[in-house]
Amino acid sequence: MKRDLLRLTDLTREEIGWLLRATARLKEERKKGIAHPHLAGKSLGMIFYKSSTRTRVSFEVGMVQLGGHPVVLDGRQLQMNRGETVGDTAKIFSRYLDALVIRTYAQDEVEELAREASIPVINALTDMYHPCQILTDIFTIAEKRGSLDGVKVAYIGDGNNVTHSWLLGSAILGLNLAVATPTGYEPDAGVVDTALGIARGSGAKIELGNDPAAAASGADVIYTDTWISMGQDEEAAARRKAFHGYCVDEALVARAKKDALVMHCLPAHRGEEISAGVMDGPRSVVWDEAENRLHTQKAILLFLLRPGARELYS
Ligand code: CP
Ligand code: NVA
Repeated sequence: MKRDLLRLTDLTREEIGWLLRATARLKEERKKGIAHPHLAGKSLGMIFYKSSTRTRVSFEVGMVQLGGHPVVLDGRQLQMNRGETVGDTAKIFSRYLDALVIRTYAQDEVEELAREASIPVINALTDMYHPCQILTDIFTIAEKRGSLDGVKVAYIGDGNNVTHSWLLGSAILGLNLAVATPTGYEPDAGVVDTALGIARGSGAKIELGNDPAAAASGADVIYTDTWISMGQDEEAAARRKAFHGYCVDEALVARAKKDALVMHCLPAHRGEEISAGVMDGPRSVVWDEAENRLHTQKAILLFLLRPGARELYS
């Protein structure tokens, strides 16, 4: 049966473990100049209804490095934008392509596409989730620290799609996550409930609050994201006001462990959610984090398109 990656609960802890190991191997092979054309002859459709720099280019280049063929589609130029149904589109694409990546607004649309398609569908960001990003982030933390054991991640800022995926990822893997958001910008209550439920079994410690200093205290990783996500431009002024005091700056980073990593999914807004000094400072690993998107995407594609690769990179 085909698999999809629509949210991190589509994966087990063991499967995420495989994705992290495969990412490391794919990155190493690429650095050594060893080709890995495991998806030769396969085609990947990529539908974007929202802007993207990293996700689009890393999936496109990743597919080429795997020997496959990426087809990038501007959602606004598809007949779906003129009323062709998601179901009909899914059926058509299933006849041409081997998998679909989609970035759009509604999670429901991605779920419907996945239900109607006979090929794997990958969520490349919705208003609700950004699973591929958090897989890369977790890989980057493991790569930098050598292990995920006992890691405390402090997420400072908006309770958004990235926060939701962090909640699920931490819960599945048993990490410690402290989230600090302004009042009124907390993560979705349903996602929090799901994460807390999973955490009871995995041993993850998940804390939610409104105090950035308390969340950052003793953290191994300080993580932030934009205060104004795609589709929220009209709320920009109100959000900038509400998020006053939530900037990841030098004073906040000083609350974390001395060797703490600073991460950001990017794009960043220096002087808003992160100070220029922190973003470009010695604790920041944002460029490595962005580079790792390339190798994580390849692991995701192999996982979904070539189950045999699981033995190859076991
Ligand atoms: N982090 C991330 O998803 O970046 P893009 O919006 O550039 O794809
Ligand atoms: N929360 C941000 C993430 C961008 C990668 C957004 O949805 O715009």
